[in-house]
This record gives sequence, structure tokens and C-alpha cells, in this order.
Amino acid sequence: MGQNRRQDPLPKLSEKEMTVKKMFDRIAPKYDFLNRLITFRLDVVWRKETIKQLKPASGSIILDVACGTGDLCRALQKAGAEPIGLDFSRGMLISFNSIAPLINADALKIPLKNSSLDGATCGFALRNFVDIKPFLSEVSRVLKPGSQLAILEVDQPENKLIRIGHSFYFSKIVPFIGKIFSDKEAYRYLPRSVVYLPSENELHKLLKNSGFSEVQKIRLTGGIAQLLIAQKQN
Ligand SMILES: C[S@@+](CC[C@H](N)C(=O)[O-])C[C@H]1O[C@@H](n2cnc3c(N)ncnc32)[C@H](O)[C@@H]1O
Repeated sequence: MGQNRRQDPLPKLSEKEMTVKKMFDRIAPKYDFLNRLITFRLDVVWRKETIKQLKPASGSIILDVACGTGDLCRALQKAGAEPIGLDFSRGMLISFNSIAPLINADALKIPLKNSSLDGATCGFALRNFVDIKPFLSEVSRVLKPGSQLAILEVDQPENKLIRIGHSFYFSKIVPFIGKIFSDKEAYRYLPRSVVYLPSENELHKLLKNSGFSEVQKIRLTGGIAQLLIAQKQN
């Protein structure tokens, strides 16, 4: 029984969008609290680093794709930018706690004009998309040439020891904490959804094929998270 539970399949691609949307609707009220607890507040540090690397100009319009409850929007505002949040989960947007304008939409069909934005961010959402290609081509379409995209995501550490500890923590401890405070299924899915992430090379290729150049990967906290910075080609 325990073994079967551990082997629960990830949602089929055809069901992924609805499963993910419903899951975030459900966990939204406690999402921020659980994020801080599970990452020992490292998520706050990683978002700060994202903004530091993006260096948004004052008053620049930055789209935060899959904004969730708005942590990156708040950090962008603090830095003087004018973020717009976009997310398909109404639950997450109801729990949104920034004053940025919001769009309730799919990241794979962004309802904004071509070359209308000064930059974009996307935090911890890549692995939740049904397909990464249409997301990147949509972001590329709405960005002005020369502007930057910052993608913050979890990662698999390269160091073997860190990888073993990290894997144990995320496969055993995180679902347990999720079960106590929020939703067991969701906090079992979230760590496992890392398997949806393409390899570093594939991700670079996808970014380049979507019109981005100067792709840079920054490993955060021993490689348990990653920050990708890419520039929309002129
Ligand atoms: C792990 S949360 C991250 C939220 C926020 N960016 C952060 O840094 O905390 C993932 C978010 O992606 C959103 N999401 C997933 N797929 C999406 C899609 N296709 N379109 C829009 N939002 C999506 C979910 O609703 C959820 O709010």
C-alpha cells in the first residue's frame, strides 16, 4: 500500500492543466505559509536574487507569469517596477497580496499585444505547464526586443550528497508537512513534478529557438534552485 502510494502516477498530459489548476485553487490560502516553512524562507531569498539579476528599470512594465499569490510582483514593486500578474488559478489570485493589476489567463495564451512589455518573470511554474514551448514563444512575443526574462525554478543539485539529502527531504518530509498543514496530494505532487523539467541543454535550446539569447543559468543554494536569465533578441 505504502509502496503504491509512493508510485502514484503524475497526471496524464491531457489532465495536467485541470489537475494543476484545481490543486492551486485548493492550496492557495496556505500557499505562502507552506512555502516559507518548507524552504526555511529561502524562497524569499531566491525571489530577491531574481529581481537583483533582472535589474528592472524604474517604471518598467514587467509581466509576472503564473504569479500565484504575488510574491514576485511585490518584490518587483519594491524595486520600482510596475508588475502585472497573470495566473489561471482564481484561488491563487483571490489570495493575491500585492496591488499589481491582474490577468486571469493561461500562460500559454497571453492576452497581451506583441512587444508590449519591458520584461517578464516566472517563479516555480515551469514544471506545471502542459508544454514549455508555447509558454516561451508567448513570452517572447509579448516582450520588447532587448528585454529580459527571468525564470526561477527548483533544480536537481549536482553534488551527490546534497542530492540525496534534498531528495529525501522533498519526497518524505515535504509531503508530511503538507499533510499536516495543507493538502497531502498537492505536496506529494509538487516535489515529484520536477521530472517535467527539461535538462539544462534542452531548456537552453528551447529558449534559443523561442527567440532568446545570452541565456545564463545561476545555481542557487547548492543547486537546489536555479535562475535562468535570457534576453529577447533584437
Ligand atoms: C508553484 S506556484 C508559483 C507561484 C508564484 N510564481 C511564486 O513564485 O510563488 C505555480 C503557479 O503557476 C500557476 N500556473 C500553472 N500553470 C499555469 C498556466 N498554464 N497558466 C497560468 N498560470 C499557471 C498556478 O496557478 C500557480 O499559481
